[in-house]
This record gives sequence, C-alpha cells and structure tokens, in this order.
Amino acid sequence: MELWHIRGGKRLEGACFVQGSKNASLPILAASVICPASTQLLNVPQLRDVDAALRILRHLGCRAEQRDGEVSIDSRSLSSCNIPHSLMEEMRSSVIFMGALVARCGEARLSLPGGCQLGRRPIDLHLSALRQMGAEIREDGGEIFCSAPELKGAEIVLPFPSVGATENIMLAACAAKGETVIHGAAREPEIAALQDYLRAMGAEVRGAGTDTVVIGALRPEKQIACRIIPDRIVASTIACAAACTGGNVELRGIDPRQFSTVLRFLKQAGCDIISTDRSVRLRSEGRLKAVGEISTAPYPGFPTDAQPVLMAALLKARGLTRITENIFENRYRQVPELCRLGADIVTHGRIAEIWGVDSLHGTALTATDLRGGAAMIVAGLSAQGETLICDEGHISRGYERFDARLRALGADISLA
Ligand code: UD1
Repeated sequence: MELWHIRGGKRLEGACFVQGSKNASLPILAASVICPASTQLLNVPQLRDVDAALRILRHLGCRAEQRDGEVSIDSRSLSSCNIPHSLMEEMRSSVIFMGALVARCGEARLSLPGGCQLGRRPIDLHLSALRQMGAEIREDGGEIFCSAPELKGAEIVLPFPSVGATENIMLAACAAKGETVIHGAAREPEIAALQDYLRAMGAEVRGAGTDTVVIGALRPEKQIACRIIPDRIVASTIACAAACTGGNVELRGIDPRQFSTVLRFLKQAGCDIISTDRSVRLRSEGRLKAVGEISTAPYPGFPTDAQPVLMAALLKARGLTRITENIFENRYRQVPELCRLGADIVTHGRIAEIWGVDSLHGTALTATDLRGGAAMIVAGLSAQGETLICDEGHISRGYERFDARLRALGADISLA
C-alpha cells in the first residue's frame, strides 16, 4: 500500500521535463518480439506497467532490462508464446502481445487482460480483426487461444477507433502476406509513435495519425533504436495542478499540439498559456472560471484520460462545468472521493456536473484507479490542510517519481 501525503495550498512554480509516455512505451515493448532483433529504447518511464511488460518479455524468453530511462531487449531468444494469467491481469495493454506473438510464432495463448476498472472494456474488435486476417481464435473460460500459421493482409473497418485494436492489428499485419488497410483507425499520437518504431524495425507502414493506416511488407532489421515520445497525459496532469494552485509552470520537452484540447480548456478557465514547439508555460492567477461543456472523444478530441484531472482542477472554478464521458462508462469513480474534499459534483450516467465551491478541505481518500488517483492528487494540492491518499499502486502505474517531480515545483507532497 502506498500512502500519499499532501499539504495543500502551495502554488506550483518552476520548470519540469515531462516523462516518457506509458501508452507509447507499452505497444512498442510488445512489438519488440515481432522479429528476432535487439531493441534500444530511450526515455522509457520507470513505471509498474512498464515493469509488467518487461516481465512478460522475460517470461517469453527474451532478455529485457531497464536502466533508468533506457530499455534494452533482445528478442532473438524468444522461446514461448504463452502468457500466464498472473502476468496478463496486471494491465490492459498486455493484450497487445497477442498481435505481436501471432506475428512472430503463428500462435499465442493468453488470458483476458486486467487494468483499470473503467467499464466493460471488451476486446471484440481486436479478435474480429485478427480473425479477418486468418487467425483462428478460441475463447475458453477467460483463456484465449489464437492460431494463425499464415496471416493474410485484409481490409479492416473498425466501427470505433479503438487504440488497442489499431495497435494489435498493426503488429499482426507486419507478418501478414499482402497489405493490410485499417479504416477507421485510432489517430492518437501513440499510434504514430508505434508506426515510427515499426518502420525502424523494417516494416512498411503509413498513414498513422489519419484514420487509414496501411501496413505492408516487413524486411526485418537486426537492431532497432527508438526514443519514446513525452507523455501528454502526465503533461496535462501537471498543467491542471499548476492551474488550480495559482501556479506558474513551464513544461519542457513536450509537443503542446498533443494536448492542445486540454490547454484550450485551461485557457478558457482563465490561465495564461504560451506555447512553443517544445514547451508550454502556464500561469494562473488563482481561482479559475468554469468552462461550460467538456466532452471526451477519440483523438484529436478531448482525451478521456485527462477528464479526471481536469475535473479536479475545476472543483473551485466559478460556475458550472458539465462533462460528458463518451469513451468509458465507469470513469467517475473518483467523484465520491473528490466530494469528500468538499467538491460539489452530481453525476447522472455519462454526465457529471461540477459546481465550483469556494474552498476544499483535506481529508483521507482512497485512490480508485490510475487517472482517478491522479485527480485526487491535483485536488489535494489545491485543498486547505492535509490530504492522505491510500493507493494500492494505481498512480505509480502511470506516473514516474510523481512526488519528487511535484516537490521540485514547490508542492508539499510525500510518498511512503
Ligand atoms: C487506450 C489507452 C487508455 C485510454 C484509451 C482511450 C493504452 C495502454 N491505454 O486504452 O489509457 O483511456 O485508449 O483513449 O494505450 N472497445 C470495444 N471493443 C474493443 C476495444 C475497445 O468496445 O475491442 C471500446 C472500449 O470499451 C472503450 C472504447 O472502445 O469504450 C475505447 O477503447 P480503446 O481505444 O480500445 O482503449 P484502450 O486501447 O483499452
């Protein structure tokens, strides 16, 4: 159990570099098994989820090590295509290993993935796409057996731009005979980052960042090097914390276009924001204004992962903010905890109404999930007095040395 201890009311001030992206790292770690090769990755965050992916790689027989931000993988020694339930249940994105293993071995055996409990989170789109590429898939009591001695390219239409399904198809398609075209693909920056890695591996991939991704032949390289992009959700979280504490923070080493929807709302709430190609300076005078309507949507829309932290930043904003959560049906688990700090939030189904209150007061909270936990940190930083957050380790799945990063910006926060 991790215990976050926050004494709220301090303005965040200073400059910080944003960590590498968790959601870009995980599919790339899975992709490293597609062909026998050695991979060097830079700027990989040290996180529980990254560690879980490295353990899966070792279980599969690969060499996989992380030293600070550098990960090296040697997948030539891969000796298994089975991932046991104990490793699968640690995170949702373990399912991306399915496409990668089928590409390398012609089969994969795994179980339904774990991860944050944000709703049903089915994997029907992943399975249907792999079937269209010629895979035979049998599901038996939570176990999945996927067999595809020869994958063939296909025209796949995704009815919803699922990030994970797009990634799984891209990985499997690297070993398919003929071209694969994904229509209705997810357009997230992490998809473009995966394309960059696959190109470095020798795959012909184009279109990432648009809704049509095309994957052609793979001429495998033996050595692959790649730098992980910065984490736009961590950047959003720090920006939200600076905004609601009356802070003045410069985020460095990031691409502001990748979280421009979040910055736009913070600007509307009254923050002064100056962006360059690689940095953002955010200055806030203190109390924010409510922003009206926020709707989560697939990229380039407002990201569901930033919804809880923006909600936390707006708890004291003057007026009413209404959020519609369109991606996950159970993404308001942080709300009862935020109300314990004195927030006034009413939820009906997918809608949450936040009525700005004059002040928040610290108390003891329990982290419910990764981004919900981060929202509690943001709220605790702007509350009067002490906030304690009991956390089973959700927050460290996605935030690297978050206590130290926030302390360097002047926050009174510790992690025990
Ligand atoms: C990824 C991100 C997660 C983010 C989410 C949406 C990673 C490791 N995780 O998750 O942080 O919140 O994108 O931006 O990158 N769906 C189906 N069937 C499927 C697949 C998805 O119905 O086969 C639905 C889901 O239930 C959900 C929606 O599609 O309602 C979006 O899911 P998806 O884009 O697949 O999210 P993940 O890849 O799981």
